[in-house]
Amino acid sequence: MKKSPGSPIHFPCGAVMKNKFMLAPMTNTQSHEDGQLSDDELNWLKMRAAGQFGLVMTCAAHVQEVGKGFPGQLGIFSDKHIAGHQRLTAAIKAYGSLVVSQLHHAGMRSPAELLQEKPVCSSDSEKHGARGLSLEEVRTLRDDFIQAAIRAKESGYDGVEIHGAHGYILTQFLSAKINHRTDVYGGSLENRARLLFEIVAGVRRACGPAFLLGVRLSPERFGMDLLEIKAVCKQLIAEGNIDFLDISLWDSFKQPEEKAYQEKSLLEHFTELDFKKVLLTVAGNIKGGEAVQKVLDAGVDFVTIGHSGILHHDFPVKVLEDPTFSPTPTPVSKAYLRKEGLGENFITYMTRWDGFVEEPSEGV
Ligand SMILES: Cc1cc2nc3c(=O)[nH]c(=O)nc-3n(C[C@H](O)[C@H](O)[C@H](O)COP(=O)(O)O)c2cc1C
Repeated sequence: MKKSPGSPIHFPCGAVMKNKFMLAPMTNTQSHEDGQLSDDELNWLKMRAAGQFGLVMTCAAHVQEVGKGFPGQLGIFSDKHIAGHQRLTAAIKAYGSLVVSQLHHAGMRSPAELLQEKPVCSSDSEKHGARGLSLEEVRTLRDDFIQAAIRAKESGYDGVEIHGAHGYILTQFLSAKINHRTDVYGGSLENRARLLFEIVAGVRRACGPAFLLGVRLSPERFGMDLLEIKAVCKQLIAEGNIDFLDISLWDSFKQPEEKAYQEKSLLEHFTELDFKKVLLTVAGNIKGGEAVQKVLDAGVDFVTIGHSGILHHDFPVKVLEDPTFSPTPTPVSKAYLRKEGLGENFITYMTRWDGFVEEPSEGV
């Protein structure tokens, strides 16, 4: 029987998502430079809850000041951020959506102009001008991820997602190419993944069994090895601390880049795992209703929607009304994006994505 995108799903922690649509974590560069929530960031996310995303994820929110990766990034590294997060969670929960904060640290990918100091990394990186963390600093980083989760809980979030994807600091630890440490956080996969596992176990311990806990991983690029990422997934499932895995594929319908792994699709590499109670979501190129159904029928528990959620704040409603719904063609005008609840900084940020925003003359 076909899985219905509109029916609810239950997470192991007890949380219920009213349908199978999650808004992807999306950096929108429209909060204040000290990490405080802005009205633009609030409005953009609130509109997605009004549009019936069953789970609204925040952008990557940094857990340390030195982990800032973007201008206007929403922060969660200080108690001064709690009041803003409380406003956000209350606004989203009013629509019956779950609300989850993505916990992030950019590591060596922090642009130098955003920091007053050198960016940090698992080990020194000349290319990025980053310095390797001391053992004590790694433990502080772990504790700051856990502290941010506690802050998220105090702010009213249903849970957190640990951002272990896209080349940011947890990826910098996971990568054998980037991580040259010789202590317990470097060397074997077990050591390179230690920080992630300590954070996950620590968040579960500190926030309790009823707190929604997910991990985002990406299996390609940024020094990742697909088989290693699958091994990390298996261990996350076996340890029983997480509710869901969010695998960022960039294209859910493609073959792995690496020849040696091309005997099945990238998606099949993950759907074949034994997830036990853990739920699976994937992100990447799930554009319209047919793609949603295809991914669910392939064995994914719920879908994660990026671009189409920018184009249509009510993408879930559109797909539930019409299973063949396709998003509006791009590029779109700035006026269109304003109508869909994007502030000016977010619109400017979206001009970086090829072919998404019309040239200025047409888009006023
Ligand atoms: C504007 C924009 C910002 C993004 N910011 C984040 C982020 O903060 N954290 C993250 O894990 N992924 C981020 N991503 C990746 C998305 O979460 C998603 O995985 C990706 O866009 C693929 O899904 P899509 O094809 O439906 O857009 C971002 C993507 C876009 C387009």
